[in-house]
Amino acid sequence: MEDEPVASGASEGVLAVKAMKRTVLGLSFLFILAGASACGDGARKADGEALQGCSAPTGMGSPSTIPEAIQLINVLAGPVSVPCLVQALDRPLAINATSGLVSAQPAVDEQSPRVFIFLDGLILSIVPAGRGRDLLELGQYFGTQESLKGELNMPVEPPIEETLPYDHLRYNDQVTICGLCHLEERPAPEVDHPNAYISRAFQPVEDELVSLEALRGEHETCDADADPERCAILSALFDYGPVEHQDFPEEMLTIYDF
Ligand code: HEC
Repeated sequence: MEDEPVASGASEGVLAVKAMKRTVLGLSFLFILAGASACGDGARKADGEALQGCSAPTGMGSPSTIPEAIQLINVLAGPVSVPCLVQALDRPLAINATSGLVSAQPAVDEQSPRVFIFLDGLILSIVPAGRGRDLLELGQYFGTQESLKGELNMPVEPPIEETLPYDHLRYNDQVTICGLCHLEERPAPEVDHPNAYISRAFQPVEDELVSLEALRGEHETCDADADPERCAILSALFDYGPVEHQDFPEEMLTIYDF
């Protein structure tokens, strides 16, 4: 006998609408990004060998604002890639991974999920494969429902300006590319850049969570000959001290709650 719960017509309808919303959002964003080109290769790393010049000076490895993240990048040896920056962060590293496909930086699949790194007041997001691999997404929190959004095309050659994460975010005169999904954008008063906006913060949906153990397994089985860049990002996450799972704040909405 099958043990599946019987979905009522109403909840089936809701699920269908959610699935459709995901597809439509995903497709429309793929379309927007079609013109974007991939960046350079970034620093590579042979197995078991730390990237040179990617250690944070004491007190700089836990940035809590976007300017502090830029200050950290600016003391590392360029070109600063995603693995270089992740290696430099203080441990323990608190992360959350999702296989969600609707974002500026979609996961590829459960093997290469989108990974959020929680710092105190700041969240960084990276993905080990796919078209988002050279992106670093930044969210600086204003309460638990809103964040200032920034994005860097990695690797970057330091020194970079504190406003670089906003330079390319404009979509049209009404909205930034982030604001297409992260609604209720408002200008960030303390940042002197026309594309610096605070907007709704979203957490991933629970059923797309990729466990810390599963992600660690991807690191342990990563084939550096087949995909050195993916392995370098996984290595930067796991090879420099303890990593732990962190939940998003409970009260933060998902994109589908909105
Ligand atoms: C296609 C819709 C979409 C677009 C466009 C988008 N995001 Fe997101 N974003 C999401 C979703 C959905 C989440 C929740 C986590 C997940 O499922 O990946 C999220 C989560 C985040 C988070 C973590 C929580 C938060 O909201 O603070 C950050 C940071 C973020 N996005 C940054 C950005 C930036 C920067 C841009 C613009 C360059 C952007 N996003 C554009 C859909 C989008």
